[in-house]
Amino acid sequence: MSDPQIPRHVAVVMDGNGRWAKARLLPRFMGHKQGMDTLVAAIGEFARRGVEYLTVFAFSSENWKRPSDEVSGLMSLVLIGVQKYLEKLHRDGVRVRVVGDRAAISQHLRDAWDHAEQLTAGNRRINLSVAFNYGGRWDMLQACRKALAEGIPPEALDEDTLSRRLSLSYAPDPDLIIRTGGEMRLSNFLLWQAAYAELYFTDSLWPDFDGAQIDKALAAYANRDRRYGGVIEDLAQTG
Ligand code: FPP
Repeated sequence: MSDPQIPRHVAVVMDGNGRWAKARLLPRFMGHKQGMDTLVAAIGEFARRGVEYLTVFAFSSENWKRPSDEVSGLMSLVLIGVQKYLEKLHRDGVRVRVVGDRAAISQHLRDAWDHAEQLTAGNRRINLSVAFNYGGRWDMLQACRKALAEGIPPEALDEDTLSRRLSLSYAPDPDLIIRTGGEMRLSNFLLWQAAYAELYFTDSLWPDFDGAQIDKALAAYANRDRRYGGVIEDLAQTG
């Protein structure tokens, strides 16, 4: 059995790239570039500690509102990143999946994601899900639309039916959601799946989120009492 002190599924809002760059008088793009390197290192660190699923918020449905040069910079960074890192991730046993609305992204990027998913489909060391053009509300809506299109009657629509149509249906719900960069909100990330997740917020900016920071987050998780709306057994017996 897996160690209950270690979360099976960790999800991360990688915030703070822009501020990291600004503090060094660099363009925001350099923060995202450093953020990509940090992500590749973090995948290995989480895998080494026994985390089975890692889901990262790389581009939200709302990120299109950013200046167009930042959006196009992020898109090319991802294309370059897939070329630069995919072989390494594959060798390291990382299975890559991309969740989000693919309709609005370029054909180049769609092809890159398809290739990454196909190449790594047999890998088992850690499951990486990249949330790209993703929003929790979008995900719930697309799941409802799927159920309606399949002709599922309203009285048959239950939590399980909906969960199976969400884009992360292959993964257990996240046990731990980490947000770097000091803000304390979910920003439309995994709204359905976050129901019982432990939340961990840190002021550390994403490009600085290294192995020591990961240990701190996992230690905080190990100290939480997870009750899922119930009571802790020993407390119930003694109290
Ligand atoms: C938030 O920082 C970060 C993003 C919107 C992009 C995250 C992307 C990466 C880390 C690159 C990796 C990409 C892929 C596809 C794997 P921010 O710009 O909001 O920072 P700020 O709050 O300091 O301005």
